[in-house]
Amino acid sequence: MSIVENAKQAVQGAAQAVMKKAVELAPDSWLPGGKPDPLIHHKHGLIGAPVSRIDGPLKVQGAARFAAEFPFEGMVYAAIAFSTIAKGRIATLDTQAAEREPGVVLVMTHENAPRMQPMPLFMTAEKAAGGDNLPIMQDDHIHWNGQPIALVLAETLEQAEHAASLIRATYEEEIAVTAFAEARSKGTEPGLFMGQPLKLEIGDAEAALSAAAVKVDALYSTPRHTHNAIEPHATTLLWQGDELVVHDASQAVAHTAWSLGHVFGLAENQVHVTSLYVGGGFGSKTLWQHQVLGAAAAKLSGRPVRIALSREGVYRMVGGRTLTEQRVAIGATLDGRFEAVVHTGTVAMTRHNAMPEPFILPTRSAYAAKTFKLDVEVAYLDMLANTFMRAPGESVGTFALECAVDELAQSLGMDPIELRIRNEPDKDPTEGTPFSARHIVEAWRMGAERFGWSGRQSEPGRSRDGEWLVGMGCATATYPYYRMPGGAARITLTKDGATVEIGAHEMGMGTATAQTQVTAERLGLPMEQVHFAYADSRQPGVVLAGGSQQTAAIGASVIAAQRALVGELLKLAGNDSPLAGLKPDEVGGLDGGLAALNDAGRHESYASILSRAQRDNITVLADAPPPLETQHWSMHSHGAMFCEARVNGVTGEVRISRFLGSFDCGRILNAKTAASQFRGGIIMGLGLALMEETQFDERSGRIMNPSLSEYHVPVHLDVPEIDVIWTDIPDPHAPMGARGIGEIGITGTGAAVANAIFNATGKRIRDLPITLDKLM
Ligand code: MOS
Repeated sequence: MSIVENAKQAVQGAAQAVMKKAVELAPDSWLPGGKPDPLIHHKHGLIGAPVSRIDGPLKVQGAARFAAEFPFEGMVYAAIAFSTIAKGRIATLDTQAAEREPGVVLVMTHENAPRMQPMPLFMTAEKAAGGDNLPIMQDDHIHWNGQPIALVLAETLEQAEHAASLIRATYEEEIAVTAFAEARSKGTEPGLFMGQPLKLEIGDAEAALSAAAVKVDALYSTPRHTHNAIEPHATTLLWQGDELVVHDASQAVAHTAWSLGHVFGLAENQVHVTSLYVGGGFGSKTLWQHQVLGAAAAKLSGRPVRIALSREGVYRMVGGRTLTEQRVAIGATLDGRFEAVVHTGTVAMTRHNAMPEPFILPTRSAYAAKTFKLDVEVAYLDMLANTFMRAPGESVGTFALECAVDELAQSLGMDPIELRIRNEPDKDPTEGTPFSARHIVEAWRMGAERFGWSGRQSEPGRSRDGEWLVGMGCATATYPYYRMPGGAARITLTKDGATVEIGAHEMGMGTATAQTQVTAERLGLPMEQVHFAYADSRQPGVVLAGGSQQTAAIGASVIAAQRALVGELLKLAGNDSPLAGLKPDEVGGLDGGLAALNDAGRHESYASILSRAQRDNITVLADAPPPLETQHWSMHSHGAMFCEARVNGVTGEVRISRFLGSFDCGRILNAKTAASQFRGGIIMGLGLALMEETQFDERSGRIMNPSLSEYHVPVHLDVPEIDVIWTDIPDPHAPMGARGIGEIGITGTGAAVANAIFNATGKRIRDLPITLDKLM
């Protein structure tokens, strides 16, 4: 980051700080969520019902069209050749053999690619979506091992891949920094996450730590992780004159349209992005070089292009989670009250991205303490840009923090749940703001009861079943409630029902289903009469499926649009309606029409209002209010994780035999899809704990295991029955009373596993993944 950019951020930071203070001090009623959403009291009806996915039948029939399945007349297939060095210049690039192959339409390299602007980096502007900001194929520079150096278009995928394999490059290598220790020795810089410093000091934590009666002080490390969504990244695109049509696998359609517009010098509405079905995103399905290069090659060849990355292609071209080295130190009184919490460390990043894995985030609000010292430092490497991956920060941050809490409980001879409850804060411990809702103690009590925690041996290594050592561990899960600005929705009401349009996404988590439920409930219509239209950049709203915030962003938008609709309908209803004289705030949707909130007898159906007004339909468009609630209250989802692990005393093999997640995430909107979200997060957490590791050759910067045969993720046999329960206590300040649930499952899970393994064996493994060699 340059000095100018730093200064700019400092000025913006100061302005934000003034604004933030004003929002903190404002009366509740001025803020979004200040008056609780009336719908949070609905416990019956569609809210919370375990409705099956409306897109489920289409998916099992193969009728849901994914990005790599759009057919176009004259379409060609793309394949990519990757650099084999981490830094330097291309000296020679021989494409002749590839060009001579049958079916080859184009070989694009830095010598013939059209001129393009770099991608705007994801999260650095409202609609920026780029994973890196490098000028790929604009010159002969190489920035990472695996960078695309040539793209082949051919009539078939096999022809393209074969031709790409014939491309030969030689390089003038430059000295690259590919070893973490070397990068760190060159000096680290403070991490900035979405413009905010990842540094916080309250009191003198080091002094309080030294003076504390009991303390733990340990180092934890987590490796690189690569994204392995079941659907590898893919795009089918074509140019129609000056317009670019992109069928993408995306969690950010509006952002992608704007960012591609920036790259090609087009207005945002000249790029049309759709993404109706996505086979998992997890933070990876933003804008990477394959969409940009695919669009460039389509322009050059005049043909529609399908570019579907191979699994290896995802490892080479799409960033994942970076490595972390973390210190957690906790100083406590003899009765377990925290005097000092220190959470510091270093992560690897590149100069061409802006994602320092923010592992301190959970520590800002998890526990009360007298003093805090939190700091993320960045060491720069020449590698593929790292990026967001499910619960960036919290997933690996809770591993370190929650192992340290377990270690402290052991030192104190105290039950780890009781230690956590003893340090439960009554307001946000670092911000000072009130919690919007926090019922984590209930989650702990419910979970402990159901899991049978009282049967745990507190002394490690005491419970045996044949050659298996058996242990129980627990950890806190936590993830913030976010709601990003830019939400908007359009509702069109006819006599037969309503269509809601919003540029949101369905990556498999059940968005379309849950949002149809809550919209139907709000409008007072049956689900069959509500159509939720989403995932098109031409629809209203800048809605990211990320940060576990999409549900809140959609909810706030739909609430705003429904209010506007009620206002219009009351005007149309006029003085002859049973609703005459009511204000929009006094009216809700009920039984296919509107009714007074305090008198359901004052009701008129939508069909009746429309026909008296001689209207076929009515359309409203509304923006969600800015998300000021997140600055006025401290808003977080919470969970209590319980794990039973069995470790083979002879081989060191680990088996997870039971797992329970007990969640406090506000109102749960769909019991079935929510349970799947929680379980999916926990399964990903089991992979983080026991298996996942991107093998990075520190000499060459090459990823050595770019396939699912060598990069291990949990399979069915690795996963036990996972029990999930929730408090279902609505958050009065969140739309529909619901906080996010998409990422919290992966948080706390790594620590719950490590703590269970410690309880089984007495071995404390602080370095992920916990493979059997570390337990022998
Ligand atoms: Mo997520 S890492 O915000 O998709």
